[in-house]
Amino acid sequence: MRVPLFDTSTPLAPLRETILERIAEVMASGQFVLGPEVAAFEEEFASYLGARHVIGVANGTDAITIALRALGVKPGDDVVVPALTFYASAEAVVNAGARPVFCDVDFDTRNVTVDTVHAALTPRTAAILSVDLFGLPAPDLRELGLPVLEDAAQAAGARCDGAMAGTLGDVATFSFYPSKNLGAFGDGGAVVTDDDAIAELVRSLRFHGSRDKETFQYVGYNSRLDAVQAAILRVLLPHLDQWCGGRRAAAAAYVAAGVGQHVGLPAVPEGTDPAWHLFAVTHPRADELLKALAARGIGARGYYRVPLHRQPAMAPFVDESGPTRPLPVTEVLAAQNIALPISPVLTEELAGEVAAALAAAA
Ligand SMILES: Cc1ncc(COP(=O)(O)O)c(C=O)c1O
Repeated sequence: MRVPLFDTSTPLAPLRETILERIAEVMASGQFVLGPEVAAFEEEFASYLGARHVIGVANGTDAITIALRALGVKPGDDVVVPALTFYASAEAVVNAGARPVFCDVDFDTRNVTVDTVHAALTPRTAAILSVDLFGLPAPDLRELGLPVLEDAAQAAGARCDGAMAGTLGDVATFSFYPSKNLGAFGDGGAVVTDDDAIAELVRSLRFHGSRDKETFQYVGYNSRLDAVQAAILRVLLPHLDQWCGGRRAAAAAYVAAGVGQHVGLPAVPEGTDPAWHLFAVTHPRADELLKALAARGIGARGYYRVPLHRQPAMAPFVDESGPTRPLPVTEVLAAQNIALPISPVLTEELAGEVAAALAAAA
């Protein structure tokens, strides 16, 4: 039986007619970029998150760059970033003019901790970029006394002590890339904040640094959310909680099927409801297991095998004698993680297939 890494089409199938109708409405409106559809999505997503402002942008990478600039990050500043995340988290720091300083993560949660971030602080640290990796909210870092940007690209729908992922820092960012938990039919992203001044700056930066299309206050970006994507996201948003519940049920099915006897499971801190964008387990012979799973038609994958501090483009920013070198936990997790198939509709039967394949290979 084939088990794909993601299944985006099954959850969308019942919504097909509604989505097509909404696309036709956008087409009839003739308003394709920003406009009332995007404003309505921004309002609905803000209300879902319990945040004051959501600002739609072109993608999750731009969202980080723009949010960092709105936080006041500038050339000459340092920003702490976990070394185990998607490349965009650090790339956006460089594009904002700052230097990424890579920190380590915790083995069990795969996330940064107060201690790993603290070890990476420098006199020039202007902000901390925490990532809700694989859909598990990162811990509260505000005790460190610096602005925190929460990269929630992988965590739409996750909660921490009742608060939504996306409201756990001073500003947060989302990606609506199609495979994400809340995925559009193309690129899209958002910045989230309760701070009126930051929100105003983000709105300006996403449109060339202008609010009135006449006066250009800043050198900004052309980074706007399309109306078609917003219309689609408005159809999907009411289903996000149920889909995240399906993802948690899939993770529970893996645990019930005994996966934990063969591979290391992620730890979930008390009070946290992960959104399990990815369900990444660990094994010392991860690549060998991946081959065995692939041979049985199971679409598992290792993520971030080359962590950010070893990416060629990041070499100019890595201080080999810096305070956080080496990054031992990142190295082990990068080599040993195995993302198992996950989706809102992964059945117990499929989880059992994957568990049996792991049992045979581990
Ligand atoms: C953690 C993280 N940050 C940022 C991004 C960038 O988002 P986008 O692809 O929408 O630019 C992604 C995903 O692609 C991501 O997983």
